[in-house]
Amino acid sequence: MKKITFIGTGYVGLVSGAGVSDFGHNVICADIASDKIDQLLDGEIPIYEPGLNNLVERNVKAGRLTFTTAVDKAIQDADVIFIAVGTPQGENGNADLSAVYKVAETIGNNLNGYKVVCTKSTVPIGTGAQILQIINQYKSNEIEFDYVSNPEFLREGSAVKDFLWPDRVVLGTPSEKAYEVMMDVYRPLFINETPIVKTSIQTAEMIKYASNAFLALKISYINEIANLCDEVDADIHEVTKAMGSDGRISPKFLHPGPGYGGSCFPKDTNAIASLARQKGLTLRTVEGAIKANQYQKDRMVDKVKHLCNGDVSGKTIAILGLAFKQETDDIRDSAALDMIKALLKSNAVVKAYDPIANKNMSIKFPEVNYCLNWEAAVEGADATVILTEWREFRGMDLNKVKELMHQPVLLDTRNILPIKELNRLGFKYDNVGRKGINKDAL
Ligand code: UGA
Repeated sequence: MKKITFIGTGYVGLVSGAGVSDFGHNVICADIASDKIDQLLDGEIPIYEPGLNNLVERNVKAGRLTFTTAVDKAIQDADVIFIAVGTPQGENGNADLSAVYKVAETIGNNLNGYKVVCTKSTVPIGTGAQILQIINQYKSNEIEFDYVSNPEFLREGSAVKDFLWPDRVVLGTPSEKAYEVMMDVYRPLFINETPIVKTSIQTAEMIKYASNAFLALKISYINEIANLCDEVDADIHEVTKAMGSDGRISPKFLHPGPGYGGSCFPKDTNAIASLARQKGLTLRTVEGAIKANQYQKDRMVDKVKHLCNGDVSGKTIAILGLAFKQETDDIRDSAALDMIKALLKSNAVVKAYDPIANKNMSIKFPEVNYCLNWEAAVEGADATVILTEWREFRGMDLNKVKELMHQPVLLDTRNILPIKELNRLGFKYDNVGRKGINKDAL
């Protein structure tokens, strides 16, 4: 079994570190943020991620997973070091790589024998070469190391499952020796016949961006088709069902909505488009997806205003769902941010409820009235807007919603509510691309 250190205990580092320890390796998760490490040492998980609690607890108990702020020692003690620090969006759409470069320097300073250095953070194509150069600059001459790009494909909300049962593992390295070490790290997956893609460093970096940009493009595409469905009275559900049954298209990531958010698609599409521009190319499709996504968020605001006869000033609007998707408390680039900002600017009174993201949103918008359940949020509202597809909103008793609201007006940006029921109860409603639903078939 290998001794493995993860640097960075964000959702990538923590999920991957805990996952690798579950494979039987001895893992240290290291971070300079002492508050996070203190929490982890106290048995608390700093992020909300289904299944992560159990995974961490199980491996801590088994003695395979430990946490530390002593990054230097964690590097010295490891056979394999994973870089899993954040790469937030910096200026001009480029990824901010300062944390990655700082870690490379620390690795160089503490390299005390042959190790494999592996990047999991999402870094622009060409960053691997920079990391190699920095480590070489800081390490002692006689010590060898190899470098691997091993991008992650974890979705927030299902990251544990995605880590333990991945569709593929990408290993970008020119070194056979490092590849063999990484095959050992991922051996349990190899036994499960998970496809392992061995490639160059740059190709591995490109696979990550190309995958995320493609998924973002797919969402923006279906959002635009849903918008057109609105205009021509077609039903997007039937359209996507038929489209998705074509194996070349697949039904996944064909759900229209209020525009994609999160810490990945917005950042990564901007980063790849920006990289292309620096190389003298324009990624017209990706740039189109970025524009379409902003339009989608704005369109949802227009839909609410339209439902409120063009004016939300003084009206009470209930927002259900603040996280960028279900099963997470992450609000980064969530459609709720644009919605709340626009509503407040138009002098609406905003009430909101999310099962776990109220706290995060209240830091951004303290002026919103945060509620403890959906019933309290919709009470007295002139319009309700569903922005996140939480299961508890799918099962809402619409009779009760109508009873509690000042008037039954509703925008379902995730298309999760039964239209038959909304019609029966006399709701004035809108959704994304379902105007042409075949009412006779309801
Ligand atoms: C995304 C990718 O799916 C992961 O493979 C990748 O590892 C991750 O980014 C990353 O780079 O770290 P994530 O952002 O966590 O994962 O969540 P997704 O499930 O991809 O959803 C992203 C956004 O797209 C959400 O706002 C979601 O509501 C929206 N979406 C997704 C749709 O509007 N429609 C869909 O059909 C699917």
